[in-house]
Amino acid sequence: MARKKQLWGGRFAGSTADSVVAFTASVHVDRRLYRHDIAGSIAHARMLGKQRIIPAADARKIVAGLRAVQKEIESGEFPFSVADEDIHMNVERRLTEMIGDVGEKLHTARSRNDQVSLDMRLYLREALDGILGDLEALQKALAGAARRNEGVLMPGYTHLQRAQPVLFAHHLLAYVEMFERDKSRYRHCREQTDVMPLGSGALAGTSFPIDRAYVAGLLGFPRLSENSIDAVSDRDFVLEFLSASAILFVHLSRMADELILWSSEEFGFIELPDAYCTGSSMMPQKKNPDVAELIRGKTGRVYGNLNALLTIMKGLPLAYNRDLQEDKEPLFDTVDTVAACLLMARELVNGLKVRSERMLAAAEGGFMNATDLADYLVGRGLSFRAAHDVVGRVVRHCIDTERKLEELSLEELQGYCPDIGADVYKILTLRAGVERRRAPGGTASVNVRRRLRKLGV
Ligand code: ARG
Repeated sequence: MARKKQLWGGRFAGSTADSVVAFTASVHVDRRLYRHDIAGSIAHARMLGKQRIIPAADARKIVAGLRAVQKEIESGEFPFSVADEDIHMNVERRLTEMIGDVGEKLHTARSRNDQVSLDMRLYLREALDGILGDLEALQKALAGAARRNEGVLMPGYTHLQRAQPVLFAHHLLAYVEMFERDKSRYRHCREQTDVMPLGSGALAGTSFPIDRAYVAGLLGFPRLSENSIDAVSDRDFVLEFLSASAILFVHLSRMADELILWSSEEFGFIELPDAYCTGSSMMPQKKNPDVAELIRGKTGRVYGNLNALLTIMKGLPLAYNRDLQEDKEPLFDTVDTVAACLLMARELVNGLKVRSERMLAAAEGGFMNATDLADYLVGRGLSFRAAHDVVGRVVRHCIDTERKLEELSLEELQGYCPDIGADVYKILTLRAGVERRRAPGGTASVNVRRRLRKLGV
């Protein structure tokens, strides 16, 4: 089969097997890097011209040619070719077709090994900025829902058993804190990503008098990589992104799961917007929380992508190995999944209807004021352990007689502890229980309002 010679084909006597061309190609995946690849090449070409490594006029032709290549890609007319393996060689091949042999000077003082590291960093830096904005928007949505439902009480749970009453707003704000830490993990990842690797060459650097700082300046990088071997062989900035995303999905999946639980008839705490639910092909009555379920379900692929790259990287000898080409799908898939799920989560939160009467009814069962009664007895001089024991016996009695704590008469209560006074009843209301928890970070409305103010909501 007559095929164009590979850009690296000089030392080969025979041509690559078709099956190998197909097997090693990555352009169907890494074409997504075209903008970053071209931006990097333009900066590199300008530097080559400035340093007189190539004539300035050649550098200008290359830059104009690269812009034309970009236009062609964006018009959908670009002839992507699997024989050119990856996005880097597709661009270079086309550049040379368009501007002639001068295009072949672009790759001076550069290797695809430092080029691909640069492209990945440019791509991820941009993706992270988008994701950080999306996370912020989700936090705003949660804070908005907290503000709209400021007075709503719900049962707080441990072991999924009713534990103590909390403000629904306080519960929502718990997720805001988780996402705040997710943001700081992504910001750290952005710092690690924001390093300029060009100039590392294939692995050892270059003998040409390049100006790395100039390239970094053109591309907006605050730092240069310090070691060429490291720069072409590590992808820990991608791993950091994948692990920060895995942790984000711990949080998103827990939130999704609560939305699913709360919208069930058994809980009935919320109603999800119709536009974000789907029906059943068989059961006409169904309204299913598929969006929340898919957010929970997509956690699997996000964890899987982290696992994939950890496994790809493990035990690789320095420096570059072709294994590293496998870094792209996990990265792209995770970026897409994170962006889609953050948007869906935000829209779900913005559209959810709170059934405060159901939350309150649930909060009224389950003796959730038992801790408050114990705390009251501590105020009367009992040790907390003794108080815990007394209240435990009172609860037992209530279960046997099917009553709530506040339904017992003062005489009955005093039968368990003579120190109990008539003032006990006002501490037994749920609202009082919530409002007494004003130590910083607790569920009292002063704390919740202070947090909302700080969030600017
Ligand atoms: N497509 C390759 C990758 O993504 C680019 C670097 C190829 N380098 C090489 N020496 N074959 O990793």
